[in-house]
Amino acid sequence: MSAVPELKVLITHDQIAKKVSEMAQQITRDFKGESIIFVGVLKGAAIFLSDLARQVQLDATFDFIGVSSYGNRPSPTQELISGWDSTGEVRLTKDVDQSMRDRNVILVEDILDTGLTMTYLKKLMLAHQPRALKVAALLDKPTRRKQPIEADYVGFKIPDEFVVGYGLDYAERYRNLPDICVIPRD
Ligand code: IMP
Ligand code: MG
Repeated sequence: MSAVPELKVLITHDQIAKKVSEMAQQITRDFKGESIIFVGVLKGAAIFLSDLARQVQLDATFDFIGVSSYGNRPSPTQELISGWDSTGEVRLTKDVDQSMRDRNVILVEDILDTGLTMTYLKKLMLAHQPRALKVAALLDKPTRRKQPIEADYVGFKIPDEFVVGYGLDYAERYRNLPDICVIPRD
């Protein structure tokens, strides 16, 4: 990719930090006296997980899971042009390393969009028979939902725009931006 799209800041790093800290306080309250496992969805959730986990005052461990979508989920370029229609087939590229049985699991995701990925992951995690299973999503695009799924901890609801930064990518780029930015669709 040679053309650099013009990025517009949607959520600043200060706003993110404040929100992440509120989410961490909520998790700390909800699981008081218990241990938790953060399961981050690679790669987008890595930055969110690292900030969130450092503010949660509980005994905690990390794990990571990797997924990709089959079929006609297009590249981010196509997403920019027209949006997409996913087949809903999600493929596991990396499983968790430890048993989730009887554990308090918090799935950490960068963004809930169609909901297909998180629906798949929740089903997968529930098969481990965790003690509790919660979803923390920094961003939520509720208007694009194809599966009726909600996160237990949501940072920001955003409109149907393609966003990058703070872990989110466009063709693997921009994950390291401190702010969440919109790539204009024109
Ligand atoms: P879902 O299965 O449609 O909910 O897809 C969620 C995944 O799609 C997220 O984990 C992201 O990897 C990706 N995604 C959805 N919207 C965006 C966006 O605006 N920017 C970057 N990645 C996105
Ligand atoms: Mg993702």
